[in-house]
Amino acid sequence: MTSSKDQQTQNTVEEKAPGRCISVFSNTGGVGATTLAINVASSMAAQLKGSVVLVDLILQRGDVSSFLDIPTLYTTVNLVSDSDRVDANFLRSVLPKHPSGMYVLPAPNSPDEADLITASQISHMLKLLGAHFEAVVIDAGHEYNDITLTVLDESDQVLLMSLPLLPSIRNTKRNLEMFERLEYDSSKIVLAVNRYDARGRWIRARSRRPWAILFTGASPTIMKQPSG
Ligand SMILES: Nc1ncnc2c1ncn2[C@@H]1O[C@H](COP(=O)(O)OP(=O)(O)O)[C@@H](O)[C@H]1O
Ligand SMILES: [Mg+2]
Repeated sequence: MTSSKDQQTQNTVEEKAPGRCISVFSNTGGVGATTLAINVASSMAAQLKGSVVLVDLILQRGDVSSFLDIPTLYTTVNLVSDSDRVDANFLRSVLPKHPSGMYVLPAPNSPDEADLITASQISHMLKLLGAHFEAVVIDAGHEYNDITLTVLDESDQVLLMSLPLLPSIRNTKRNLEMFERLEYDSSKIVLAVNRYDARGRWIRARSRRPWAILFTGASPTIMKQPSG
């Protein structure tokens, strides 16, 4: 028999509003997307008392675990196969916790393992994580494929990473056109410019989009976070 306290706990989990899902995307590498995802997740972890998970969805060659120096004993491969027995305690016992307070789900250890993961498994996994964390921050990578599109569709906010350099600006424009074709609400997309300088200020002055995160310098830090 279930006690009323147990029932209450179960209901709390079932009825919890889904956690906010924020993904960082850019269609070229080397622009600082992983750096930004880590910065966002760690600063949110401080605000949300650790109820944040950073997910490395660059399944073939994710490098979040190297950036953070965390173990990869439990990765996306394990979580998709464990999905039937996931609850908040389970997740907090298997996912490594970074000193900043965020939990981390690293990318698989080998490309072969990553190849077996499907978009529908990722979709289910994100729902599970959203049910047990206040925020799910995703390093969503640099290419359009089934998994990335699922992740972008299911994100409440997409941080579109860019550099104030012509090739990156061109790519950012292509991404924005793609998001328009996908009929994403414009408030879902936030432009984030790395290595912000005078050129960044020039672009910002001409952009009608929400701008959020601007960082520069040898040690990248967030200067401003997305509102809302
Ligand atoms: N604003 C910055 N200032 C200094 N170094 C940065 C900055 N942004 C990124 N880097 C460094 O540049 C490299 C590429 O960044 P990374 O986040 O891995 O890019 P991406 O994920 O887009 O490929 C990393 O070594 C990172 O530490
Ligand atoms: Mg990266």
